[in-house]
Amino acid sequence: MAMTAPDTSCLVGPVAFKDLNWKDEGEMVITPPDESADIVSSLPSNITGPNIQLRQYQGVWLLGTVVPGLVSLHRRFRSRPGDVLLASPAKSGTTWIKALTFATMARSSYPPSAPDHPLRRLNPHECVPYMEDLFVDGHEAKLEALPSPRLMHTHLHYSLLPRSLANCKTVFVCREPKDMIVSLWHYLHRAGVNFSFSEVFELTCDGKNPNGPFWDHVLGYWSASKVRPEGVLFLRYEKMLVDPVGTVRELARFLDVPFSAAEEMAELPMEIGKLCSIDIMRGLQGNKTGSIGQFKFAHQSFFRKGVVGDWVNHMTPEMARRMDAIVEEKLRGSGLTFTS
Ligand code: A3P
Repeated sequence: MAMTAPDTSCLVGPVAFKDLNWKDEGEMVITPPDESADIVSSLPSNITGPNIQLRQYQGVWLLGTVVPGLVSLHRRFRSRPGDVLLASPAKSGTTWIKALTFATMARSSYPPSAPDHPLRRLNPHECVPYMEDLFVDGHEAKLEALPSPRLMHTHLHYSLLPRSLANCKTVFVCREPKDMIVSLWHYLHRAGVNFSFSEVFELTCDGKNPNGPFWDHVLGYWSASKVRPEGVLFLRYEKMLVDPVGTVRELARFLDVPFSAAEEMAELPMEIGKLCSIDIMRGLQGNKTGSIGQFKFAHQSFFRKGVVGDWVNHMTPEMARRMDAIVEEKLRGSGLTFTS
């Protein structure tokens, strides 16, 4: 049965994904893809812990469950003019960039001070869908039915993006890898996925963390941002923390929706920065309850410390030197560095 998309014609900017009142939801759920069972079983694998198997697909380590969805994504995803893609390694500021971009793009429909702003009642992950997950779960029709402009997110490497996204605006955010590892360990721990810190550390050093290797992940978007700066914006979590309002303005310019003089007068960039700040976000209703995804990650678990340098509380100086040396060696000659 054909699916009826909700009437969102009066809204400007992306619509909060969870606000779409999907009719015929039963009919639109397709069986999770098995069209690639042969491909998946032939890929190198790495058992990394209870219930977690990684597969190496085109040089990237992915959760085994993601690969079939990715094959379907490559076969069937069609981009549209105006699509905006957010991309990041896990635990690098994904939640924040989702909130900032959603609030910036949707500001005509939802001024940041509006009491009914979707970010006041929904977790940012409920506002911006996770592209490959929809294909993994057999919910790809939702992406098709999402009104334009679609705002989506991916953890995929640049090399694994569907070709048709090449002309879309992409915003990538990454983070100093030692802090990223610490954040990941806490996150898994809170969801009851019990890896020791040294296991997470070793996997990342070997490039065998989900969506690893880390260095290939960042280098793909880094190179693309150099070749196509109008199409790929490369952001760093640490710089965003120093100047969140500057980041909001940069996002708006990059997405061709710069703030007008009137909006600046009304302090909209500041309002957006404030609404999306970690202290405000963690106190909002949609973030205090609820959970997300296969491992039922609590919405609250996306808001921990939000600082730079927490790795000192978890890593020995020796571990830190080793990680720095690996990353420095892998990034050498690219112009990208995390150690200076
Ligand atoms: P820590 O665990 O170091 O505190 P992701 O969103 O990619 O899962 O990343 C999560 C990390 O971003 C966590 O880092 C979290 O605290 C931090 N974070 C979440 N929301 C944030 C915000 N609004 N501002 C700054 N940092 C934020």
